Amino acid sequence: MIRGVVIVGTLLLGVGVVAAQQDLVAQRSALMKANGKNLGTVLSATAKGDKPYDQAAIDAALNVLDDSAKKMGALYVDSTKGLKAEGDFQPSPKIWENKAGFDAEVAAFGKAVTEAKAKIKDLDSLKATLPTIGKQCGSCHEGFRLKS
Ligand code: HEC
Repeated sequence: MIRGVVIVGTLLLGVGVVAAQQDLVAQRSALMKANGKNLGTVLSATAKGDKPYDQAAIDAALNVLDDSAKKMGALYVDSTKGLKAEGDFQPSPKIWENKAGFDAEVAAFGKAVTEAKAKIKDLDSLKATLPTIGKQCGSCHEGFRLKS
C-alpha cells in the first residue's frame, strides 16, 4: 500500500515536472510572438510611416522587448532540450550545445534594446536605431532557430 502511494506520488511528480517544462516551451513561443508583434506592428510600422509616431506606444513596445531580453535566457534551460514547440519554428539543439554562444546572443540583444531605449526620441532616431535591434533578432535566429 505504502509502496503504491510512493509510486503514484513519484509518477505525479514526474507529470508535474513535464508539465512545467511544457509550460516553459509555451512561454518561449508567447514571448517570441510578442517580440514579432511589437517589432512588426509598432516599431517597424511606425518607421515605415504606416503609423503616426507615438512615443508612448514606442516606449511600451521597447519595454516588451526589454522584458523579453531579461526573461529569454532562463526559458531555454537544459531540462527543455528536445521538447517540441508548436508553430513554425523550433529552438536549435545548438542552444544547448553552445550555451555560451546563445547567452552571448541574448546579452547582445538586451544591450541593443537598452541602447535603443535611450536613443529613440522621434521618427528619425527610430529609423536610425531600429535596424540595430532587428540585426540582433536575425543573428540569433540564424544561429539558434530552425524551421519546424
Ligand atoms: C537569443 C536568441 C533570440 C533572440 C535575440 C530573438 N529570438 Fe526569436 N526565436 C528564437 C528561437 C530559438 C526561436 C524558436 C522558437 C522557440 O524557441 O519557441 C524563435 C522564434 C521566433 C518567432 C516564431 C515564434 C513562433 O512560435 O512561431 C518569432 C516571430 C520571433 N522569434 C521573433 C523575434 C523578434 C522580432 C526578435 C527581436 C526583437 C527575436 N525573436 C529575438 C531566438 C531568439
